This record gives sequence, C-alpha cells and structure tokens, in this order.
Amino acid sequence: MSNPAPFNPPVRSLMGPGPSNCAPSVLQSLSKPMLGHLDPEFVRMMEEIKSMQRAVMQTKNLMTFPVSGTGSAGMEFCLVNLLEPGDEVIIGVNGVFGGRMCDLAERCGAKVTKVSSDWGRIIEPQQIADALKQTPKPKLVAVVHAETSTGALTPVEEVSKLVREAGALFLIDTVTSLAGCPVKIDEWGVDAVYSGTQKCLSCPPGLAPVSLSERALKVATSRRTKVQSWYLDVNLLAGYWGEERVYHHTAPISMNYALHEALRLVLEEGLEARFARHRENHLALKAALDVMKLKIMSQEGHQLWQLNAVQVPEGVDEAGVRKQLLTQYGIEVGAGLGPMKGKIWRVGLMGATSTRDNVVKFVQAFGDILNAGGYTCDTKAAVAAAK
Ligand SMILES: Cc1ncc(COP(=O)(O)O)c(C=O)c1O
Repeated sequence: MSNPAPFNPPVRSLMGPGPSNCAPSVLQSLSKPMLGHLDPEFVRMMEEIKSMQRAVMQTKNLMTFPVSGTGSAGMEFCLVNLLEPGDEVIIGVNGVFGGRMCDLAERCGAKVTKVSSDWGRIIEPQQIADALKQTPKPKLVAVVHAETSTGALTPVEEVSKLVREAGALFLIDTVTSLAGCPVKIDEWGVDAVYSGTQKCLSCPPGLAPVSLSERALKVATSRRTKVQSWYLDVNLLAGYWGEERVYHHTAPISMNYALHEALRLVLEEGLEARFARHRENHLALKAALDVMKLKIMSQEGHQLWQLNAVQVPEGVDEAGVRKQLLTQYGIEVGAGLGPMKGKIWRVGLMGATSTRDNVVKFVQAFGDILNAGGYTCDTKAAVAAAK
C-alpha cells in the first residue's frame, strides 16, 4: 500500500447527537506543546479543570474529575465502583442509554429491576415509587437525565427524594444535558453523575466528566470486593487526581487541554446565558417545524433543547434526506436508533452548534430537500419562523 496523503477532514455542521462542533480555541488547544502527565504545570491545570467542572456540574463534591474515555467510560466508572455482585439496583429505561446501564449493572453482578417507559416518554416519579415497593432497599437507582436516543428530558428532583427516602444512592447520566440545560448535582441530591465532552461542552470526544458525593465515595472505598475494573477504580484514580499525584495511567494530555478550554468557555458565557441560548434555538427550530407540519416525537413539555427527534413523515426516505444534507450541504444529522430506526431524524443543537444561523441553514436545506423529494412544505415561511 502506498503511503496515504495527510488526512484533511471536510468542514461539517455537526447537527446530530454528538459530537458537536468545537470552538476554534478548543481545537487550537489540542496543538499546544506536550507536557508530561506529572509536570507541575499540567498538575496545576488539572486542578483548574476540577474546579471548573464543579462549577458546571453545580457541585462541591471533591471527587469531581474527567475519566479518560468517552461517556460510556463515565457510565462504567460509576457502576463498577458503586456495585458489587448481588446488589439490587433500579434503572429507568426509556431509550438506548438506560438499556446500556442495565447491561453494565448486570455485568457487575447486580440484580437489575428495569423501570421502562415508551421511547420518547420520560420516567415518571410514580414508576420509581412503584418499583421501590417491589425492591424497597436497592443500593442504587439510576436514570438518564437527557435521553439522546429519543430527545426526552426526565425531571429528576422528585425521583431523587424517593431514592433518598429509600436510603439508596442516586445516579444520573448527564452526557447530553450537561452545559445545555440545568444540571444541579448538589441541589438535586445526586450521588453519582457522569457526562461526556462531545455534546454541549463542545469539546472532542475522549473524556468523561464524573462526580461522586461523599456518600457514594464511602460506598466505593469500603467495598467487600475489589472493583472489577483496574482502569476505572476510583480508589486508584484518586491517587492521581487527588493530592498524592502518583502515576496511574498516562492522562490524555491534549484532551485535557481541550476540556480546560471548553469549560473555560462555558463559564465565560455563563450557565444561565448558555441554557437560554439552547432553549431559544430549540424553540426557533420547533417554530419552523410547525410551519413545515413536522412533529417532535418526544413527550410534550419534556423535549430536550439540545436534541430534537423529528418524526419522518409517511413516504419520505429518511436515510436519503440525511445523505443529501451531508453531501450537498455539509450538515450532519443523526438517524434513529433501535426501534426509532427510519422513524426519526435526530437534530442536535448542542454547545457551539446551537446558533440561530445553524437553525436557519438547516431549515432552508431540509425544506428544499423535502420539497424536491415530494413532501410539500413552505420553506420560506419556515425559515421566517426560525428567524
Ligand atoms: C445519554 C448518553 N449516555 C451515554 C452515552 C455514551 O457516550 P459515548 O458514546 O461518549 O461513550 C451517550 C452517547 O451518545 C449518550 O447520549
């Protein structure tokens, strides 16, 4: 094989379920000089990452840091550290990622009670209350805050109260919610949380911001059995991210630069301003979709601002539309997963991608493609509604 030419990726508008577009300064940070993972300057930066991550997660938890790995590594970090064989857990399943948590918990040897909702709907507090009647003393209850596979946002405050009353730990997945809509770890009484860098933080994929409360940490440090994963064992990771600074693994240095810059940008914009931007752009897209007589499939009143699950109308070629958006307009949107395959487009407005310009550009392209394919809609009026 001859040596390939250097890889030059095309520029895309990443309007799918993630990754989202990164701010130029985040991309530039990736090309900064390499440092050793125990260099005092790198260590200083790690401390800044931890405190900025606490601010974004709205927590004072000391054990707050980015796990090396994607969002799934964050999920695995929480479950392998908190669960031991035979433990009982209750997990909300209203899409792909609740299902993934169940699989992982079962791999930890836990007995899983699934609380299922139809895809697109939220997990209701009453469902958790009912599950707690069957399994009154679970070790842990987990829900996905923002289900990226369906675009539903499950409110967690009431669920948290029920979990606290049962004496269990409360875990939430904030891979898609963090930095796009409110996530209040301490106020909501969450014991364990994980996220990903590539969604509303607008950083490349590769790190999983996590946080454990004192209660959760106590559970992880007083286990009967060793954590099944060496790489994700918080007892070992604490040695590197804590005060001792002992070698555990070689941190992905450049990704940490990128996360530092991404967190800095989130705080510079301000959490409230950032959430308002996500909300307004979602509403602009929704107004355009209304004009186009297209619907968002997730439960009304609980629709994510950062991920819009648009129903594919009868007779429209879902994959064909996505392909044209990508090849003719450089816009990436996501397909439906599992039972949603062919039924929805997932239109992401996450982080740096959530701009009015992107909404307008998408509506124009989408309307043109749909009309050319035989679905009649008023693109001009839809664009006006989005503005
Ligand atoms: C809600 C949610 N949880 C977990 C994950 C897994 O994250 P990753 O793909 O970064 O491993 C994703 C990824 O899309 C997600 O959206």
